[in-house]
Amino acid sequence: MSFSKWMFAAWYDLLNSGVEGRVVPYRRETAGKAWGDVLEIGGGTGANLAYYPSDAKITFIEPDMHMVRRLRRRAARQARDVVIVRQVGERLPFADASFDSVVTTLVLCMVRDADAVVREARRALKPGGSFLFYEHVVSPRRRGRWWQQTLNPAWRCLTTGCNLDRDLTASIEGAGFSSVELRAFDLSVGLPVTIPNIVGVARV
Ligand SMILES: C[S@@+](CC[C@H](N)C(=O)[O-])C[C@H]1O[C@@H](n2cnc3c(N)ncnc32)[C@H](O)[C@@H]1O
Repeated sequence: MSFSKWMFAAWYDLLNSGVEGRVVPYRRETAGKAWGDVLEIGGGTGANLAYYPSDAKITFIEPDMHMVRRLRRRAARQARDVVIVRQVGERLPFADASFDSVVTTLVLCMVRDADAVVREARRALKPGGSFLFYEHVVSPRRRGRWWQQTLNPAWRCLTTGCNLDRDLTASIEGAGFSSVELRAFDLSVGLPVTIPNIVGVARV
């Protein structure tokens, strides 16, 4: 598993480069709107770093050591002073109400327990804080769901654990936030293929 994790981390930015241009607006809509004490869960290689406001104080949670190494290097290149904690999002090592903003982008598809991570995000937010999310989700269409479920086993292997068919809208709406503003749309990946996405903000 460690070799495939290393491969995934090593190739992540390159593999993403084909769609990254289409994803940037949603990085701006999440990381770009974070403020104050910010927690990003599943920071990966630090693809959001460039979009955070310059005065945001950023803490990353990232369990994968290969990702952590790349994240550290990118933060140094961008001269961003960040805290990186090697831990999973299901058990955040922070007291209740520690952060103004919590961000996830393309992460809840990959965690072991998405409901637990979203509950932890809510617990870690201060009153008035925001959970900003951008994720790909299960298709609302029967044919789309069939494709996602059929491709999922191979996709999980290739990506060391990403799931195409998670109902993350239900995870976020069921986590007890006081409000959830969410937009569902299809992201074109260039081929005649689109991926169902959600982007939005949930408030404590
Ligand atoms: C597809 S990458 C997304 C990285 C980055 N957020 C982005 O937008 O490019 C998913 C990340 O979630 C991390 N991850 C996997 N399981 C996790 C968990 N249980 N808690 C927190 N992060 C996790 C992975 O190591 C990986 O870095």
